[in-house]
Amino acid sequence: MSEKSKIRRVLVVDDEAVVRNGIRRALEGQGMETLAAADGEAGLALMEQQPFDLVLLDIRMPDMDGMTALREIQSRHPGTRVIMITGYPTIDTAVECTKLGAQDYLVKPFRLSDLEASLHKLESRGAQAPGGPEETERGLRIDGEKDLIIGESREMTALFDRIRKVAPTDSTVLITGESGTGKELVARAIHAYSRRSSREFVAVDCSSLVETLLESELFGHVKGSFTGALETKHGLFELANQGTFFFDEISNLSLKIQAKILRVIQEREFMKVGDQRKVQLDIRIISASNRDLHESIEAGAFREDLFYRLSVVPLRLPPLRSRADDIPLLVSHFLTRFSNRINRDVPEVTPEALEILQEYAWPGNVRELEHTIERILILEDTDLIRPRHLPSFISQRQGDFQMFSEDPFSLEELEKQYIRFVLRRAGGKRTRAAEILGINRKTLGLKIKKYGLG
Ligand SMILES: Nc1ncnc2c1ncn2[C@@H]1O[C@H](COP(=O)(O)OP(=O)(O)OP(=O)(O)O)[C@@H](O)[C@H]1O
Ligand SMILES: [Mg+2]
Repeated sequence: MSEKSKIRRVLVVDDEAVVRNGIRRALEGQGMETLAAADGEAGLALMEQQPFDLVLLDIRMPDMDGMTALREIQSRHPGTRVIMITGYPTIDTAVECTKLGAQDYLVKPFRLSDLEASLHKLESRGAQAPGGPEETERGLRIDGEKDLIIGESREMTALFDRIRKVAPTDSTVLITGESGTGKELVARAIHAYSRRSSREFVAVDCSSLVETLLESELFGHVKGSFTGALETKHGLFELANQGTFFFDEISNLSLKIQAKILRVIQEREFMKVGDQRKVQLDIRIISASNRDLHESIEAGAFREDLFYRLSVVPLRLPPLRSRADDIPLLVSHFLTRFSNRINRDVPEVTPEALEILQEYAWPGNVRELEHTIERILILEDTDLIRPRHLPSFISQRQGDFQMFSEDPFSLEELEKQYIRFVLRRAGGKRTRAAEILGINRKTLGLKIKKYGLG
């Protein structure tokens, strides 16, 4: 068990002194430190002053009740674990508590052994509370080792920060970035760290949605509602209800479908095909696009009103070439993963080979790097990867600075290409790039802006 997940300091919030004191005695008997408050407001005030590993929170209290306090705790102290206690259990409140991020739910009167069991469950679940992403030194963990968003560059750390902020809210998120930069991974991370994590994450590739079947796909249909409707079918929206809906490649939606989706999002309810009953829609929408939607709007191919609905929080994933300092980490991550899969020792990479990998422009981004590593592992039976083991189009450094291999071009174009090359060599670090170029950082900044290299 990690040190972090150990429960040491507990805050007990209950309006009944008997309950408060009973719980405190029990926990202190187990060597924990406790403090108590008689209502939500007082509890929150204590939390402002000192950290707690766990809050035991009564639901029915005068003044600020437990549900309101739970919401406040989640937004002000997202990592803190909360167990709700109540004398009046209903399924609705139990569901509501879990949705709001409570870790457990105890019904009064409970025995000491119930409380102990609940604490034990929490501790063994580990330090990670829903709503608080776990950041490792190498990236952001989604769910188990295989789902790690790797990165330690400035761009990626900033991205993890935004994911952590946006996940617990219900805001729509629009993720943009070139192909293979990890948009789907980020969408899954947002879901995993949201209050909806125990519900479904439903991903749909918008280019696969055909107009004729759209309604039945998204909303479902009842048996016999149209020719071919042999069985009652649940729609994707229904599957995702209370969970997260991921519209992938959103720019591929036709204008007609955009109008229909906009209506559903606005009305927050829908009907199955062939059914008059309205179903409430409670989904969090995340979408992704590798095209610039502003351009699509300008071209009349994307509705501006839908765009604003979908992009309350925009997240932009940087291309791999602008964060070459993440490449060594990614390489070792994929090497380990694929070696384990085929049961062989993880090979090392020479500094020369790594440098070549860092200089290559990776038009297919992380996906291309992932496939490249997989291919090398399958084809090359070596425990030391050298430049000659790399695919030739990478080791020939094509797509890199290639002054003399192309037709002659202007000095300005040369400057642009050279600055891009140096930036990449400097791992995106402008100060270092400016040093190499022998110009000051401000001048470099202006040139980056001029050539759109930022
Ligand atoms: N930062 C990262 N760390 C680890 N793996 C990553 C990272 N970014 C992307 N990947 C891996 O690269 C592959 C592509 O990622 P993903 O499918 O999320 O990209 P995408 O942006 O949705 O691409 P596309 O636009 O082509 O759909 C996946 O196998 C994913 O696991
Ligand atoms: Mg994708």
